[in-house]
Order: sequence, then structure tokens, then C-alpha cells
Amino acid sequence: MMIFLNMMVIFCTLLLVMDANAWWVARRRDTSRRRVSCQMHSWSSWSSCSVSCGYGLQSRYRSIWVYPTSGNTCPSTTDRKSCYIGITNCAVSSWSTWAACTKSCGAGTQTRTRSITVYPKNCGASCPSLVDRRGCAGYQCPRNCSVSSWGAWSKCSITCGSGTFSRKRTIVTTPAYGGDACPALSEHKACVIAPKNCEVSSWTSWGSCSTTCGPGSQSRTRTIVQSPEACGNHCPSLVDSKFCANKKCEPVCVLSPWGSWSTCSCAGIKTRSRTIVEKQEGAECLSLTEEAGCKDKNCKVDCQMSGWETWSKCSTFCGAGTQSRIRSVDTPPSSGGKACPAAKETRDCM
Ligand SMILES: *[C@@H]1O[C@H](CO)[C@@H](O)[C@H](O)[C@H]1NC(C)=O
Repeated sequence: MMIFLNMMVIFCTLLLVMDANAWWVARRRDTSRRRVSCQMHSWSSWSSCSVSCGYGLQSRYRSIWVYPTSGNTCPSTTDRKSCYIGITNCAVSSWSTWAACTKSCGAGTQTRTRSITVYPKNCGASCPSLVDRRGCAGYQCPRNCSVSSWGAWSKCSITCGSGTFSRKRTIVTTPAYGGDACPALSEHKACVIAPKNCEVSSWTSWGSCSTTCGPGSQSRTRTIVQSPEACGNHCPSLVDSKFCANKKCEPVCVLSPWGSWSTCSCAGIKTRSRTIVEKQEGAECLSLTEEAGCKDKNCKVDCQMSGWETWSKCSTFCGAGTQSRIRSVDTPPSSGGKACPAAKETRDCM
């Protein structure tokens, strides 16, 4: 099928070529008989200006329709003329009034606009900005109060019973220009501290009586098991005492302390004494004086003699005779004391 179509195309083309060749042969036969002048086609329309603005050139063309025989020439196939394209700049309206500020308080912006009245053409200046902006400020914005976060809770306000914990916060920003007022700066909550009463042990057994006779006292004690806390009851007395009586006391004699010793006597004795301060009925008092031996070298000691012994027998049986008796020295004299008297005595006898 494809081969058949190709064959058809080739056949038709051959027919056309043979026909055109016949036409040219007829024409050459015709012109060769007379002189022929140049014949031109009519001008094309003018081209657009060669520039988009200002002075430029426009051109038009024509082509040769019939070529002349030799000796004749053809006129120009091109034609030119100058052209001018006027510039149109952009033109805009005057500014509108300023629009409202974008913020009712604080810093904002506001705009004004203008529109294009003449669009730019042919290299004309392009349009300027159609929107103008500027800052604007409304009233002072309200400033709300702001506060710090809460501080720590305080200790309970009382040491026992029902009290309150409290905590505080402080103003960080003071409100202004109608801003929200500050919230409460302190807060409370209840606290309850239960009291603990004092607790004591049970009593010890009674101690012995403070005296061995007569009225006295004896005591017993107890200790703190739990100290009172948070307003708890105070501790009771830890010591208890009571009267006690033993057998009736013997009546007493109360003596003063001893006085100082006397100087040593020449007999080598010193003494001291004391007095009765109180003597109960029926009481017996100890001795009120006391002696002690002493030695005083400077004391004069007189000689002391013993008593006389009995007289000896008379020296004769009859007539006058003598008899004697003797005595001895008990204490010899010293330090200038009296000398000893005679130790022998003689008398007449018959
Ligand atoms: C102030 O607080 C109110 C709500 O109580 C809020 O609507 C407003 O935006 C706050 N103003 C500022 C400036 O924060």
C-alpha cells in the first residue's frame, strides 16, 4: 500500500515539472521579440518606527515584477523616512488624606495613597510609589499591673491552736493609663498546731526522814517523760515532801564554841571555857571548862617542900636532950623562885 502511494506522488510531480517548463519556453520566445522596461511591484506599507521613542526611521520595500532587457535599469527597491515617537511620562494624582492609625494605642503606622492618572508610554518615566507610610502614635496603651510569683509560706502565725500561714508577692509593674489593678498581694491559709502536754513519770518511793528525832520531812521525786510543746500544760512539781516524825528527841544543851586558851600558869596549866546557849528542860550539859598541861620556861617556880616527917626520939633518956625531924624538896626552885627552907629542924627535949 505504502509503495503504491509513493509511486503516485512521483508520477504527479513529473507531470507538473513538464508543464512549467513548457510555460517558460513560450515566454522567452515572446520577450526576445521586443525591448522591455523594468516593471516594479507596488510599495509595501511602512514599517514601524525603528525606535520606541524619539527620532527613528521607517522603511518600505518593493520588488521587481518584470526585469528589463539590457540597457534599461530598475529604480530603488527601498524607501526611507524619519519618524518621531512622543514620550508620555507617568502622571499620578495628589495624595489622599492619611488613613487611620493601625494601632488605637502605642506605636502604629498609617498610610496614604494616590492613583495613576496617565500610564507611562514610549520610554516615559515609570510611576512613583503609590503608597506612603509613616509612623503614628495613639493614646498611651493601658499598662496592667503585674506581680511577682508567691514567696514561701510563713511559719504558722501562732505557736499552738488554729492560726494562719501567709505568703506575699510584690508589684513588679504598677498599673497605669486604665490598666488592670493589682490582685491581692498576700494570701492566707489555716494551720493547726496540736499542743503536747507535759508528761511525768510516777513518783519514786518516799525517801528517809530528814531527821533522826523530832519533826522532819521526807520527799519523793518524779521525772519529765515528755516536755510540753506548743502551749501544752506546764509540768507539775517534780518534788513532793511530807512531814515525818521519829521518836521524841532527848532534851539538848546547846553550848557556845570554846573560848581561846588562857596563858599558861606557872603551875603549867592552861584553861578555856564555853557557855550554855540553850538548855532544854532535863538536858545534861557537857563540861564548861577544860584544862591542859603547858610549859612556860620564864615562870618562877618556888621551892616546894614535902611535909615534915615525925620527930626522932629524944637523944637522952633523962635530962635535957634534942630531937629532930626532916622534910624533903618536892619541887626545886627555878627561874628565881624562892629558895628552899631548911630541910631539918631540931628542938630540946627531956
Ligand atoms: C490587660 O489585661 C486584660 C485582661 O485582664 C487583657 O485583655 C489586656 O490585653 C491586658 N493588657 C495588656 C497591655 O497586657
